[in-house]
Amino acid sequence: MNQLRTSGEPILKARGLCKTFGGIKAVKDISFDLMPGEILGLIGPNGAGKTTCFNLITGFYEPSAGSVFYQGKDVTGQKPFTVAQQGIVRSFQKTNILKGLSVFENVLTGHYLEARQSLFDTFFPRAHVRKTEKAVRDSAASIIETMGLSRRMNAPAYLLSCGELRLLEVAVALAAKPKVLMLDEPAAGLNSQEAQNFGTVLKQLRQEHVQSILIVEHNMGLVMKTCDRIVVMNFGEKLAEGTPAEIQSNRQVIEAYLGKAAA
Ligand SMILES: Nc1ncnc2c1ncn2[C@@H]1O[C@H](COP(=O)(O)OP(=O)(O)O)[C@@H](O)[C@H]1O
Ligand SMILES: [Mg+2]
Repeated sequence: MNQLRTSGEPILKARGLCKTFGGIKAVKDISFDLMPGEILGLIGPNGAGKTTCFNLITGFYEPSAGSVFYQGKDVTGQKPFTVAQQGIVRSFQKTNILKGLSVFENVLTGHYLEARQSLFDTFFPRAHVRKTEKAVRDSAASIIETMGLSRRMNAPAYLLSCGELRLLEVAVALAAKPKVLMLDEPAAGLNSQEAQNFGTVLKQLRQEHVQSILIVEHNMGLVMKTCDRIVVMNFGEKLAEGTPAEIQSNRQVIEAYLGKAAA
């Protein structure tokens, strides 16, 4: 059973988000709340505008209209680095794993927010730099353990299975210490057993490592089992919003998306 443990003010609010590319309205007046402790699914057919919403929230695109509030503060139009620094961290639909690096090294790269140091510090590391370096290595090892990848710690990423790669992608995002973790199709290519395991890992993360998760995903088994609430998009617009049970029995959603996704 999904346990709704949400409370208080939304940690993230999207209000009237719009994005136009040339003549195409990719996102039209999208509003939703992400509550602390919540896993919120964003679903819909290809081209519905889900990734564009991610780009608007994380500062990769500036909205044509509308606002994003994070912890009550207007963060609309802030640069991606600033957004990430404040605790909103996203994964990409296309992998950002460096295949030639080991699992450990990939997770180290995810610590860029805390591990930035000057050139001087690189060549003449003083005590505080050595301390940061140790903290970063310890953090990487701990994240790898959380994701169940300890056995593969020193393996080059190109040796990983598809399932392990998907877990590593989340591990790299976790290294930036998100409060809100945003995952864009993180279970792509997984079989149903792997997807189920992945969902279990996400629920554990929400309890122990991140406050809230916003997930774009086409695997409906995973979405329905893992999400507390779901927002459905179609042609840039919000088509429906509700619990998995409400979404699964919504006729408009079935016609626009679920009928096809289940096929
Ligand atoms: N950078 C861009 N330039 C022009 N059109 C874009 C751009 N990004 C997305 N689009 C268009 O916006 C629409 C929504 O795309 P997207 O957000 O990627 O959908 P989804 O993630 O739901 O599959 C599509 O029609 C897509 O072609
Ligand atoms: Mg997409």
